Amino acid sequence: NNYAIIMAGGVGSRFWPVSMNSFPKQFHDMLGTGETLIQKTFQRLSRFIPKENIYILTNEDYNDLVLEQLPEVSQKQVVLEPAMKNTGPCILYAALKIQKENPDALMLVAPSDHWIEDEEAFSKNVLTAFDFCAKHDALMTLGIEPSFPNTGYGYIEYDTETENVVKPVKQFREKPDYETAKSFIKQGNFVWNAGIFMWSVASVLKAFKSNQPELFQLFENGISAYNTDLESSFIEENYVKAENISVDYAIMESSKNVYVLSAEFDWNDLGTWGSLYDKLDKDADNNAVVNARTLVEDASGNMIRTKGDKIVVVEGLNDYIIIDKDDVLLIYPKEKEQDIKQLRNKVKDVF
Ligand code: GDD
Ligand code: MG
Repeated sequence: NNYAIIMAGGVGSRFWPVSMNSFPKQFHDMLGTGETLIQKTFQRLSRFIPKENIYILTNEDYNDLVLEQLPEVSQKQVVLEPAMKNTGPCILYAALKIQKENPDALMLVAPSDHWIEDEEAFSKNVLTAFDFCAKHDALMTLGIEPSFPNTGYGYIEYDTETENVVKPVKQFREKPDYETAKSFIKQGNFVWNAGIFMWSVASVLKAFKSNQPELFQLFENGISAYNTDLESSFIEENYVKAENISVDYAIMESSKNVYVLSAEFDWNDLGTWGSLYDKLDKDADNNAVVNARTLVEDASGNMIRTKGDKIVVVEGLNDYIIIDKDDVLLIYPKEKEQDIKQLRNKVKDVF
């Protein structure tokens, strides 16, 4: 009864210029391990979920990339979205498809682009959560101990009264502003949402039905077509009508039956060049260098990713992001990494 969906439709705009609309970061070997992020994710899940029960949700533009990078996956497991509508609509759609195939299914929702090294601990946590979801009407997430007031994450306030490893959630707040995030961390009983969810298809569909009735109706209308030849024409016509909303805003903030389990593994969402830098091996001066014939002297704290066939010399530069990609060279201060998201458009306006 165990299923997983991998969400692989994001663009990863803070990894410009490597991550582009035509080739987003989940399809890149960001860590220099010889495997792309989506390949690593698929392998991590297939340790404890039958391969044929793992679905990949992505934009239709990336269908070929998925099939090429995951040869074990059949076309039927690739769920295609004709429009970018964030994670709410695609999770709802996939849950309806899975429920039609197996009404008792338990479902793991995993991002395609995270770093998790301790696969043993990860699968143990997910199986504990599945066990809970099989017995309760619960929306479960994994919690990460926060280290600073990051405004790019969801925050979860858990109930401190229970002794259980699975804790009821008092409130779920998606991407609070800096001051709010700071006060949450000070209060103590808050963790970050890892963006990894577990639930029964029955529970998640119930949550969509009561919190997002219109969205639910839109996708429920196609139920007779799902998993048949009629599916793609229904989706082609109706997907664009869906509201653009993330699962966090769509159901997690407003549901009362949210539970959290503290992750027992190190986690990094590889959301920015800086977070990638944190995970890479560093030289004696704390420079992280990927694919490069690079000479670094009198320079420290840099994130350097250049083409393998090019000789690169960096001297006298500290805490910079240096990214070389065919037609774009980026040299940018690490502390401003969040602004890279806007560069793509800025550059388009100028050139
Ligand atoms: N299929 C599909 N379609 N996937 C999508 C889409 C879409 O339209 N949009 C985003 N994704 C994928 C991304 O590729 C990524 O793997 C995952 O869904 C999460 O989307 P992000 O855009 O990266 O979300 P976020 O980082 O802003 O926030 C989420 O993750 C944080 C932890 O990394 C939230 O769940 C936060 O609460 C959480 O803290
Ligand atoms: Mg993310």
